[in-house]
Amino acid sequence: MENPFRYGGVVRRAYFADREEELRILESEMGSCGRVFLVSPRRFGKTCLLFNLMDRLDDREFATAYIDLNAHPDVASFAGALTLQTSRALESNTERLIKLISGFQRLRPKIDVGPDGSISVGIEASAGESEPLKALLEGLSHAEDLATRKKRKLIIIIDEFSDLSKYNGVTIEKVLRSEIQRHEHVGYVLSGSEQSVMLSMVQERGRPLFKLGRLMELGPIPRNQYKTFIAGWLQKGGFQYPSGGIERILTLGNDVPHDIQRLCHIMWELASVDQEITPALIELLPKEIVRQDSPFYEMLWQTATQTQKALLIAVAKDPGLSPLSKEFMLKHRMSPPSSIRASLQSLVKKGILYRDIEGRYHFSDQLMSFWIVHSLQERNM
Ligand SMILES: Nc1ncnc2c1ncn2[C@@H]1O[C@H](COP(=O)(O)OP(=O)(O)OP(=O)(O)O)[C@@H](O)[C@H]1O
Ligand SMILES: [Mg+2]
Repeated sequence: MENPFRYGGVVRRAYFADREEELRILESEMGSCGRVFLVSPRRFGKTCLLFNLMDRLDDREFATAYIDLNAHPDVASFAGALTLQTSRALESNTERLIKLISGFQRLRPKIDVGPDGSISVGIEASAGESEPLKALLEGLSHAEDLATRKKRKLIIIIDEFSDLSKYNGVTIEKVLRSEIQRHEHVGYVLSGSEQSVMLSMVQERGRPLFKLGRLMELGPIPRNQYKTFIAGWLQKGGFQYPSGGIERILTLGNDVPHDIQRLCHIMWELASVDQEITPALIELLPKEIVRQDSPFYEMLWQTATQTQKALLIAVAKDPGLSPLSKEFMLKHRMSPPSSIRASLQSLVKKGILYRDIEGRYHFSDQLMSFWIVHSLQERNM
């Protein structure tokens, strides 16, 4: 039997654990073309949740379009992708799609013919300073018009939405609001992991997206539900496991779905010979992952400066304190705050750390923190 505990990519259907409540709320919101801002720390499962939502909505004949802001360095590219995905969601016939795109003023079709003669359609925004924003407006407005004409509900999902500020700050928020608020046939899920960025966007009076939609904070998967999911697969695979064993895995993984999947994946591999999971094997799992990932962590480690390394060690040992607090600086003999701040910013940019709403910093990958504490201390670093 194939290992059912998948990680690293989008996990769907039978391999996707729980999130029933969240799916129910999102489905119901989208049923009335609502707007939801989805927020969680990294690796909690937003992207997976969104794809599972799309699967359900597709089954109900909704048109769905998914755009990941990470993949779009500028507004022109974002506008092109959004328009292409939404048009494609509502128009599956290639000829009609090309005709439709040809009608745009600020966006033009880009047609590629593959070696096998297959045609793929793309969209380019026309060049020019203010054009990309106008192209975005045109694309959004067109999405609503087309959904109305086709008498279908269109759901636009924008992932990594907290990256929006990389374009041109508030202007793009204004552009989005002006369109989104008048749409009656389009529902929106805007999802992001930079919690402080997302919350200030939605909760600060005066910001264009203030109260434009409902805020949904994605927490960990409830333990009972996750236990049922894990136990179900272990039973299907014919594994013996100790009572309390699954609970221990959830604790080792800090309730972060990505880490739990990883732990379960490796447990399945290691136990697949005699199909017996012992408490000792469970305790071995984080060490085994860290051993496998060591070259990757080593590489990340080499990219860090001395201050960044000291800071990473301190955060790994003391996750509860804000690195900019006096207590933290005294305890770990780190200063000045300006240099700590610069190091933090750089580590966040590299994706090694992320900042929560309370201003504390966490490892995007908890297992890296485990690696630092164990492997580096062994080497007396
Ligand atoms: N409900 C779930 N069932 C099973 N695995 C899950 C679930 N949610 C998340 N995962 C696991 O966690 C991993 C990370 O999930 P995902 O990429 O959806 O998180 P994310 O919140 O979008 O993270 P990021 O903020 O980094 O984009 C997935 O590859 C998958 O292994
Ligand atoms: Mg994601």
